[in-house]
Amino acid sequence: MSKNVLVLVFHPDLEGASRINRALAHAAADTPGVTVRDEYALYPDLRIDVTAEQDALIRADRVVWQFPVYWYSSPALLKQWEDEVLALGWAYGEGGGRLEGKELMCAVTAGSTSDRYTAEGDHGHTMGEVLVPMEITAKYVGMPWIKPFAVYDTFNLTDEQVARAARDYAQAITA
Ligand SMILES: Cc1cc2nc3c(=O)[nH]c(=O)nc-3n(C[C@H](O)[C@H](O)[C@H](O)COP(=O)(O)O)c2cc1C
Repeated sequence: MSKNVLVLVFHPDLEGASRINRALAHAAADTPGVTVRDEYALYPDLRIDVTAEQDALIRADRVVWQFPVYWYSSPALLKQWEDEVLALGWAYGEGGGRLEGKELMCAVTAGSTSDRYTAEGDHGHTMGEVLVPMEITAKYVGMPWIKPFAVYDTFNLTDEQVARAARDYAQAITA
């Protein structure tokens, strides 16, 4: 049976200023079994409907957090989403565990090239290290951590490279 994949996109202007995340999100949305939620569009006032988010999560076998890397982290709404949706008594603690066994994958886009995200590169850390807080969070709520999907050098990609990344993404999230 194919997986039910929920892609939560955290880009402050997905259908406007975004180039890469928009292409990835549209490729995901065109893939059978994949549901995409544009979180900033759903919550322009930054008031997250926690029940709606939790209901969407319950139906998923795999959850994808898709976002551009902003200051070696995520846009702020993803952090807020974690703080509010991964609630005590729902995601963890007594009466929690509702996400146990659902896979979590991060899909990130970065302006820098991949060689800058190495121990020797000028960022001094890998993307895996940048994502460590999310990996520990996944572990804490019982979600198996899937290898992240990353697109680098976003400012210099040709249209063809963006289209290829979007095709690769549609495969990766359903593999
Ligand atoms: C506020 C802000 C912070 C950023 N910080 C980083 C960063 O820490 N590392 C990086 O590689 N790129 C950084 N970038 C570049 C974005 O990651 C890049 O523009 C984005 O992934 C492109 O995707 P988009 O076309 O969907 O917007 C930053 C961009 C902005 C606007």
